[in-house]
Amino acid sequence: MAVTIKSEREIALMREAGKILGTIHNDLAKEIKAGMSSYEIDKKCEEMIRSYGCIPSFLDYQGYPGSVCISINDEVVHGLPEKNKIVKDGDIVSLDIGVIHEGYQSDAARTIAIGEVSEEALKLMEVTKQSFFEGIKYAKAGNHLFDISGAIGDYAESFGYGVVRELVGHGVGRELHEDPQIPNYRQNRRGMKLQKGMTLAIEPMINIGRPDVRWLDDDWTVVTDDGTLSAHYENTILITDGEPEILSLVLD
Ligand code: MF3
Ligand code: CO
Repeated sequence: MAVTIKSEREIALMREAGKILGTIHNDLAKEIKAGMSSYEIDKKCEEMIRSYGCIPSFLDYQGYPGSVCISINDEVVHGLPEKNKIVKDGDIVSLDIGVIHEGYQSDAARTIAIGEVSEEALKLMEVTKQSFFEGIKYAKAGNHLFDISGAIGDYAESFGYGVVRELVGHGVGRELHEDPQIPNYRQNRRGMKLQKGMTLAIEPMINIGRPDVRWLDDDWTVVTDDGTLSAHYENTILITDGEPEILSLVLD
């Protein structure tokens, strides 16, 4: 599939979708307490998405059984909603949510702390978030796609962290996953030229230890192979001639 350039009308809808999603992330984070199951978190999230008249884009996507991916500690991404999976004090929880608003998608992830977490967990969360911001310094028309990838990976690796390679960011728009694929580590070429009107989901997944991951028997949950903690940070952004617009981030 080709890379799509969005029209002003499409951009306006993606702005609305992003604002809704950013707000849901802020609100959901405040609701999550030790003792809740990932099933309960999913139900709350679905309720919030539908309260805006939006559709949870992950629900039934390739058979995914929830509205949010809930990945705890050494789980990297795609953790499932389960009644017997309980979040506890000291956990870090990655929440990845997609919404469809009037036919347009927004995709974003945050890793949050439950109660008091270790210094090393806090640092991982902070560096993962910052690696996204290091990457998008290069996200402007005329630059090349893999400049973003390289900046993300170089930053995270400078802390000795492992950058997940098997999973990537992506274009986003009418579809959840559009071209191009966006790796989170330096490539040996600069990739395609960025153009105004591209909308991209940039999503570093960073491990304290090795970059290697494996899939659990549920065929969804991705975990670090060495059992170390992992964090995820993602936003849907719009490429412009100047600074990128971070569509799915709402400050609170
Ligand atoms: N944000 C993720 C992605 O971009 C989540 C999609 S997984 C799903 O790939 F299957 F649950 F939708
Ligand atoms: Co994504």
